[in-house]
Parts: sequence; C-alpha cells; structure tokens
Amino acid sequence: MIISPSVLSCDFGNIQRDTEMLHQSEADWLHIDVMDGVFVPNISFGFPVLEAIRKHTDKVLDVHLMIQHPDNYIQAFKKAGADILTVHYEACTHLHRTIGAIKEAGMKAGVALNPHTPVHLLEEVIADLDLVLIMSVNPGYGGQKFIPSAVEKVRKLAKLIKENNSKAIIEIDGGVNLETGKLLAEAGAQALVAGSFVFNSVDPKATISALKQL
Ligand code: DX5
Ligand code: ZN
Repeated sequence: MIISPSVLSCDFGNIQRDTEMLHQSEADWLHIDVMDGVFVPNISFGFPVLEAIRKHTDKVLDVHLMIQHPDNYIQAFKKAGADILTVHYEACTHLHRTIGAIKEAGMKAGVALNPHTPVHLLEEVIADLDLVLIMSVNPGYGGQKFIPSAVEKVRKLAKLIKENNSKAIIEIDGGVNLETGKLLAEAGAQALVAGSFVFNSVDPKATISALKQL
C-alpha cells in the first residue's frame, strides 16, 4: 500500500519539523491539498508552502488541486515541486486537454472524483491517467467522516481500469483510518491519503507504518 499523509493536518507553525518527520517515516508520498475557496468552501495554501515543503524532502509530492481553472497553474505547480498533479473532474471542462498538459509539463496526471461523481465518466480518459483519486468525503476539510459508498466505487474503478488496460493507481482521500483502510485495501485501493488519523495520533510515524501494512 502506498501511504500519502496529508500535510493539511500538520502544524503549520512547524512545517519543517513535520515535513522532516514524514520524510523519515515509511510514508511513500506527501499529499498536498490546495484549496481556492471557490471550488471548495475553504482556503488552504499555495505555491510558497509547496516550495517550502519541497526543500525538506525528496519524496513524491502528491498534489491535490481543489481549485477552479487548474489549467492556468500547471507550469507553476511543476516549478514549485509537484510530482503528481491531480485535478478534479468537476472543475475541468476540457479534461482531456488538461491531462495532456500535466503530462507534457513532466508530471504524473491524476483525476479526483467527488462522492457524487460516478467512475464511468472516466471511461474515455482512463487509459491516459496515472492516478484516480476517489474522494471518500466532500472535499474542503480534514477530519470528516468516511462515506462508505467509496468502497464500492473502488471496486467499479478497478474493473474500469482492467477493462481499459490502464495503469492508473487507485488512491482514496478522506476519513481513512485502519478500519476504513482495510475495507479499501480489500476493494483494490493502492494508495491511501490520511490526514487527521496520522497527525492526531500519539505516534504519527507508527500510525503510518500501521497503514502501510494494510
Ligand atoms: C479533504 C482533503 C484531504 C484531507 C483528508 O478535502 O482532500 O486530503 O486532508 O483529511 P482526513 O484524512 O483527516 O479525512
Ligand atoms: Zn486531498
């Protein structure tokens, strides 16, 4: 299992310390949640914070854009240090073009689906994708309750990927803990994002190791 702890739940006054902790942990990727206050009802952080994180780790930066018009910022995210750039299906009118532009900029391309968006809408682009991010909460905040229908979506997505000979990784975001993580792993999830479960635990590194075993 690929583990991608969400930096959104870290202590921003100690971002270097928390990034170094993740760097030393068994985390595979660092999940970076960018929110614009328009696509989602919250604002998180942007390029300067991403650049600061990049300085303290060479692990994969898994950037989740919860923003309108992501096309306008593809080069800027590459420059700031993103390795994987995931855009929301619901925010992209010309999704095929956006995916191409992300790859052309030298990053892996991901598409995120809100809880109400069915996986079959990805049928025409699934072969081009490096990653699909299934949202198991409505995006905007850390620490929300897991939406159980995400488990069945993982199964449907695994089928779609297989049918289309796609190499896309199935990643899940929202309300992930050891309990929900187990169900997701059984359904075919390959990468798990976890924010509050990691950072609110007594020993975040041990929590990451436990998730890694799923
Ligand atoms: C939610 C973000 C998530 C968030 C997950 O909008 O996309 O990545 O940080 O937080 P937890 O794991 O606490 O649900
Ligand atoms: Zn996220």
